[in-house]
Amino acid sequence: MTVAIWLQMILLFCGIFSAVGGFVGVNIGTALSNLPSAVNTVAILRAQQITHVRLFDADAHMLNALSNTGIEVMVSVTNEEVLGIGESPSTAAAWVNKNVAAYVPSTNITAICVGSEVFTSIPHAAPVLVPAMNYLYRALVASDLNHRVKVSTPHSMGVVPRPFPPSTATFNTTWNSTMYQILQFLRNTDSFYMLNAYPYYEYVKSNGIFPLEYALFKPLSSVKQIVDPNTLFRYNSMFDALVDATYNSIAALNFSGIPVVVTETGWPRLGGANEPDATAENAKTYINNLIRRVSNDSGPPSQLTIPINTYIYELFDEDKRPGPVSERNWGVIFANGTTVYDLSLSTSESLDKNSSTAFCVAKSGVDDSSLRDGLNWACGPGQANCAAIQQGRPCYVPNTLRNHASYAFNDYYQRMRSSGGTCDFSGAATITTIDPSYGSCRFTGSLNSSTGRLFPAPALGPIGPSSGVSKNLVQFGTVVAFVVTVFLVNANYLVA
Ligand SMILES: *[C@@H]1O[C@H](CO)[C@@H](O)[C@H](O)[C@H]1NC(C)=O
Ligand SMILES: *[C@@H]1O[C@H](CO)[C@@H](O)[C@H](O)[C@H]1NC(C)=O
Ligand SMILES: *[C@@H]1O[C@H](CO)[C@@H](O)[C@H](O)[C@H]1NC(C)=O
Ligand SMILES: *[C@@H]1O[C@H](CO)[C@@H](O)[C@H](O)[C@H]1NC(C)=O
Ligand SMILES: *[C@@H]1O[C@H](CO)[C@@H](O)[C@H](O)[C@H]1NC(C)=O
Ligand SMILES: *[C@@H]1O[C@H](CO)[C@@H](O)[C@H](O)[C@H]1NC(C)=O
Ligand SMILES: *[C@@H]1O[C@H](CO)[C@@H](O)[C@H](O)[C@H]1NC(C)=O
Ligand SMILES: *[C@@H]1O[C@H](CO)[C@@H](O)[C@H](O)[C@H]1NC(C)=O
Repeated sequence: MTVAIWLQMILLFCGIFSAVGGFVGVNIGTALSNLPSAVNTVAILRAQQITHVRLFDADAHMLNALSNTGIEVMVSVTNEEVLGIGESPSTAAAWVNKNVAAYVPSTNITAICVGSEVFTSIPHAAPVLVPAMNYLYRALVASDLNHRVKVSTPHSMGVVPRPFPPSTATFNTTWNSTMYQILQFLRNTDSFYMLNAYPYYEYVKSNGIFPLEYALFKPLSSVKQIVDPNTLFRYNSMFDALVDATYNSIAALNFSGIPVVVTETGWPRLGGANEPDATAENAKTYINNLIRRVSNDSGPPSQLTIPINTYIYELFDEDKRPGPVSERNWGVIFANGTTVYDLSLSTSESLDKNSSTAFCVAKSGVDDSSLRDGLNWACGPGQANCAAIQQGRPCYVPNTLRNHASYAFNDYYQRMRSSGGTCDFSGAATITTIDPSYGSCRFTGSLNSSTGRLFPAPALGPIGPSSGVSKNLVQFGTVVAFVVTVFLVNANYLVA
């Protein structure tokens, strides 16, 4: 599947779920030797139908190029700028005027990220972090932009020393008072907590305690269910556990109602000899399953109703970054706009490679009345878009029941399979990998379809019941952490 289709899906669920959240955006780092121009970068974003981006600075060329695109943009105060802004309200005001007020509303700037992982990367600036956020906020108020532009600061998981199990996670007490003030600020300004969450690093750090499948959102074998012993919440992915660890750390300081947005997550597709898990296969699996997970629109177990809006790290490989090989290989799109690895959203492993070519059409040998019933149902209660098979439209000819039924069956299937719709129609329909499109008639989901859109597949389904019993306690430091459990009982009983 092409990245265009993949990203079309992102756009699509952004559209579908925009009212309640659940979007996937991308981070755009610029430390690459063949960095496309801002205009070309935005052309790539638009071609891939990316709707949310985060910049690590407030580059004027990018902000201009992003104007009138509808793309939502988070800009960043760099770590170098945090001290100056935290020490001077007028510096903060000048920053907002130059980098935000000058572009809004034509560039849809929705947030300012104040620094990047300040506690863990420039701890000496931590004392001025809250003043910096306050000064920026006041400058936004002065420009009457505080309702459309939020202020927050991205944290690494490093601020939560022991994230597993999530129920006992707390922030490192070294930063008690600053974290308290940050949360107060976020709550008072109706903002959100920015979290950089990398199951890749947590997995590597864990030295094999957690299965790789868990980091990659793959179904866990029935003997390796991961359950929080205090809440009995079952965690299907480390991603969910990290988000919940953050919610619980916030709750431990007595705050609630502050949504967590994942400002960075991803997986490197290439690493050095000592980075065996940085592979293209793992990266592809992680990103695809992440998109599926987020598009499902549910929150982590402790916050089921709050979607986990997420920004993928990152758009391009940054070959100029120092550090291990993996540092330079997080990109999902090459500078020439082509996909780095195949990306797809599919309902099952077996359909993985062919999901772009799974079409639902009328089965041969089926009688006309079954086809008519199916057609009527698809275009009626099934809510397929049957405009293209109306007289004068591209798929009207050949004007046969079979052709029209195929078009309608397929449109229904492409729209509904993410929510459980099947290709059946009382036996009148069948799946084919051959694109039924012809001439100017493009079937929904066709790579060349201009109107048809593929829909995101459902997130990982429930894990089946398991059997057997035994409990292995895993120790993290002095805290009894996750229980990796083999249940005697039906594991479903533990799902909250
Ligand atoms: C900008 O983004 C906000 C937040 O999602 C949205 O409500 C608004 O409609 C967008 N504005 C434009 C002009 O696209
Ligand atoms: C908390 O942060 C401080 C300062 O970085 C560090 O020295 C300490 O080890 C951290 N505590 C834990 C439990 O990780
Ligand atoms: C941080 O807060 C916790 C919980 O309220 C408390 O036990 C701890 O003593 C505090 N630490 C510092 C350094 O203030
Ligand atoms: C949170 O609230 C509880 C109950 O009101 C209180 O006992 C506890 O000390 C508070 N914790 C903090 C960190 O403020
Ligand atoms: C795009 O760039 C990548 C990496 O440099 C290269 O492998 C690929 O062939 C290029 N694709 C096109 C169409 O130029
Ligand atoms: C996927 O596509 C390959 C090659 O096009 C084909 O051989 C294989 O049977 C297909 N698999 C499924 C599940 O359709
Ligand atoms: C899609 O378009 C490309 C280029 O226009 C063409 O080569 C290809 O055959 C088309 N595919 C289908 C299924 O029509
Ligand atoms: C969404 O994900 C949650 C948690 O993984 C799961 O419980 C739920 O069934 C999923 N919903 C859908 C519609 O796939």
